Amino acid sequence: MTANKRILVLNGPNLNMLGVREPDIYGSATLGEIEKTVRATATKLGLELTFKQTNLEGELVSWIQNARFQTELIVINAGAFSHTSIAILDALQLLEIPIIELHLSNIFAREEFRHNSYISKCATGVICGFGAAGYNLALEAAAQILSEQD
Ligand code: DQA
Repeated sequence: MTANKRILVLNGPNLNMLGVREPDIYGSATLGEIEKTVRATATKLGLELTFKQTNLEGELVSWIQNARFQTELIVINAGAFSHTSIAILDALQLLEIPIIELHLSNIFAREEFRHNSYISKCATGVICGFGAAGYNLALEAAAQILSEQD
């Protein structure tokens, strides 16, 4: 059962520019359009969804800290902070809930500096390379993980 399970989807820097940002890599859907689809998927799966984006590293850290007792699972696309931010890794390590790392693009098929992700060091699993559909896949995975917990 996943009813009443809370899922927090966090998006990092430049993801507010989806739609105009390198559409050949990230696709043409805006973050607003992705959110709409993800909301429909959450409703279908009986999950309660919070969906946020920020360009600020410290804001992501604060949101992750605040999530400690407020959500059952986090999905995070930390954007470029995935490759640089020990602070975000440290915040995620405070959590005792499953973490799904998400990227629209296949970071392993891109520049070498994208191959390392600090988020991966604490992620339950990683979804990357499926474009906007990855958000729905992450929610499906979330529902599966949470149903196995009960
Ligand atoms: C990204 C991949 C990152 O390398 C990049 O910096 C992003 C987006 C993705 O969703 O594919 O901002 O996380």
